Amino acid sequence: MSLRHFTDLSAVSEGDLRLMLDDAVVRKARLKAGERTKPLEGKVLAMIFDKPSTRTRVSFDVGMRQLGGETIMLTGAEMQLGRSETIADTAKVLSRYVDAIMIRTTSHDRLLELTENATVPVINGLTDDTHPCQLMADIMTFEEHSGPVAGKTIAWTGDGNNVLHSLLEASAQFRFNLNVAVPEGSEPAQKHVDWSRAHGGMLNFTRSPEEAVHDADCVVTDCWVSMGQEHRARGHNVFSPYQVNAALMAKAKPDALFMHCLPAHRGEEVTDEVIDGPHSVVFDEAENRLHAQKAVLAWCLGA
Ligand code: CP
Ligand code: NVA
Repeated sequence: MSLRHFTDLSAVSEGDLRLMLDDAVVRKARLKAGERTKPLEGKVLAMIFDKPSTRTRVSFDVGMRQLGGETIMLTGAEMQLGRSETIADTAKVLSRYVDAIMIRTTSHDRLLELTENATVPVINGLTDDTHPCQLMADIMTFEEHSGPVAGKTIAWTGDGNNVLHSLLEASAQFRFNLNVAVPEGSEPAQKHVDWSRAHGGMLNFTRSPEEAVHDADCVVTDCWVSMGQEHRARGHNVFSPYQVNAALMAKAKPDALFMHCLPAHRGEEVTDEVIDGPHSVVFDEAENRLHAQKAVLAWCLGA
């Protein structure tokens, strides 16, 4: 069997993504019922972080432990990677020691070079380009609260960043309508738009956040400046019309969900009244990183 890497939603079949989500739901229920199995006993996951993390780091670590495995936490700066050893050589060496590698890094090419040279599964824990693990948790959370996502409408407002790129891929893989409102100059990369449309994604682009969230089943946003993108930070006045506040949320369906991958910048992309309000499921979303990633780990490692 060929290696199962989890690099992007577009790189995994629709069927396998659905199997992972179903598995995540079962694993969550079993954990809550106190059932513990250790299908990954004896397996070790290496985690490389070139950027900060709270949720990804802790949920992969705890998830691996709950599955009976172990983790090694590495930062690029502390490895020989930080002294110009290549990603390719690092991939070949780590593959001799560990059973899987999770990496959070800058350019997507670094992830792909790692994947091409590793002989163990590689998982994308966020790059400048995409954040597929986040979307697995997001779809799981949507379905927990609002039922099957197929045919529903999700609205994105804010910056056209890595999370939006994975959301674009998710819209095709999970068959929902996606309305996107971003300011001029913050558009998502065309390749993700093209990929989504070529695979059945039903996308609508507008400059108007009100139009995007109108009658939506879920409103999603993220920070206005992503990690490592500080050099292209733009004035907040560009993004302020895209803030998710109570007035904007009121344009969505009455029972619409509010989601944010976190960390949130309260008072910028979202107000306290929304993120702490009745529509918000952001902490379920954060919790589901754990359950969804356990399913990803089990899929990658054949457990
Ligand atoms: N949502 C997310 O990936 O959070 P962290 O940056 O804390 O890992
Ligand atoms: N778009 C954000 C996501 C953080 C989880 C970033 O890349 O910083």
